[in-house]
Amino acid sequence: MRISAIVWIGCVLVAVGLLAWMGTGVIPDGGRTESKGTALVGGPFTLSNSAGKPVTEKDFAGKYLLVYFGFTHCPDICPTGLLLIENALDQLGRAGDTVVPLFITLDPERDTAKVVGDYVTHFGDRFVGLTGTAEQIKQVAEAYKVYYRKVEEDSSNAGYMIDHSGYIYLMGPDGKYLAHFPHHISEAALKDGLAKFVR
Ligand code: NI
Repeated sequence: MRISAIVWIGCVLVAVGLLAWMGTGVIPDGGRTESKGTALVGGPFTLSNSAGKPVTEKDFAGKYLLVYFGFTHCPDICPTGLLLIENALDQLGRAGDTVVPLFITLDPERDTAKVVGDYVTHFGDRFVGLTGTAEQIKQVAEAYKVYYRKVEEDSSNAGYMIDHSGYIYLMGPDGKYLAHFPHHISEAALKDGLAKFVR
């Protein structure tokens, strides 16, 4: 009797621990479903737009945001992700026009305001490219639970790469997190996922 009670309490403790961990907003890799820690994704930020002017989350109040992090030297993941976003928004038609896709660089050292601004124009007119100081980028990446790390690569003529997670975050007009999608999601699935929220 006593042993089973101990086992039972042990199970409860493990369950509570798991729930607490899920509540931290850590998004498991490859997760296709919405995170349990939704309220903990996003928040205030201060960055710079392509003109070098300061931009905060308040500048996008009332708009849906698709927030994507990367760097302009990224060989394939970032360009593919941005193209995917553009195509999905295009397929959404008029609802897609209510969404502002943000590309936030994780490489502020090389991605100046102008570099990021020029880069995003390759993927469509609606993109807003943002950069900032190393500290500002660290802050916004932490707010969105984005993993990134500088990796030296001797073979690359770019000198170094940024290893980074590749989620696309949908934020509501009130600035609150709504959903996230993996960068390798299909165009149709992203369009359908967005259509559930965007009007
Ligand atoms: Ni990338």
